[in-house]
Amino acid sequence: MNRIFSGIQPSGNLHLGNYLGAMRNWVDLQHDYECIFCMVDMHAITVWQDPAALRAQTRELAAGMIAAGIDPEKNVLFVQSQVPAHAELAWVFNCVARMGWLSRMTQFKEKAGKNKENVSVGLFAYPCLMAADILVYKATHVPVGEDQKQHLELARDVAQKFNSDYGKDVFPLPEPLILGAATRVMSLRDGAKKMSKSDPSDYARINMSDDADTLALKIRKAKTDPLPLPETAEELVDRPEAANLLGIYAALLGKSLDAAMAEVAGLSFADFKSRLADAAVSVLGPINAEMARLRQDPGYVDGVLKRGGEKAAALARPVIDEVYETVGFLRP
Ligand code: TYM
Repeated sequence: MNRIFSGIQPSGNLHLGNYLGAMRNWVDLQHDYECIFCMVDMHAITVWQDPAALRAQTRELAAGMIAAGIDPEKNVLFVQSQVPAHAELAWVFNCVARMGWLSRMTQFKEKAGKNKENVSVGLFAYPCLMAADILVYKATHVPVGEDQKQHLELARDVAQKFNSDYGKDVFPLPEPLILGAATRVMSLRDGAKKMSKSDPSDYARINMSDDADTLALKIRKAKTDPLPLPETAEELVDRPEAANLLGIYAALLGKSLDAAMAEVAGLSFADFKSRLADAAVSVLGPINAEMARLRQDPGYVDGVLKRGGEKAAALARPVIDEVYETVGFLRP
């Protein structure tokens, strides 16, 4: 049986990278798979979050996911902290994963920087909680952007070590699903940097909440190079900004990079950018409008999340029972 799990942090500024790298693929996958989608607020607090803002952003993210087309009745859509099984399995995994494995995680190294002594223990243990998120449902496939690939490898290592330490095939080895033409959306200001929630410049990213004028302005101001648009993907080598904008364009249209490039080859950046802005507005505009409607109805969103949390907890409980039994905990 294939089961999909994926997660997203409610740490503010839901952006086009999250949408094209992850959420949009989730919307497609829900038709063919049993899907579980989680707002990972426990991951978010590995760095400081203002409590009121975190709560508001969690609702906003849920609204964004529903507005993007994730059907909350067909799928399980919930908040991580509402299902204690995640923390319970994460503790067991803290005792399975090795310090060396976690020390090698590039996201930890990037986020901790020179400040290793002063970051939270949670930031270090982050990948164990992520492995628990996935494996507490015995999920087999995890649709993510490219930046999460290493964390997925760690989840596989944890699953494998647990199975081999205890001599029992408890967990499947989950596979990453890295889909679409924009698996790594880059900053609009610097083609070598990932588009991220934490970039201090708002012009570096397209937020899901940007209105049409803001979208068009950010795209107009996006960094480019002096050459016209090429015809083939090979010609994008050493042109990171052009590659990024074309990848975004292809993903917005739901086309392959080659097909999208054939449409716009030879255009000036100015002309291409106006097409790109139109594509962005036509995809994000309706999502935005639906988010605005859902914002007026927090009771509905909270109800969806509560029901989702109950469904998730019921799926996770037998797995926790099996794990606790396996590791030798005395059961009541
Ligand atoms: P997060 O919240 O940073 O991002 C959510 C999803 O968006 C993708 N993404 C991108 N894709 C393409 N280009 C970008 N610039 C870009 N930025 C973000 C991410 O790859 C991700 O798929 N650790 C995870 C959350 C998590 C999780 C999990 C994911 C917790 N538990 C279990 C999968 C399974 C994270 O911080 O994603």
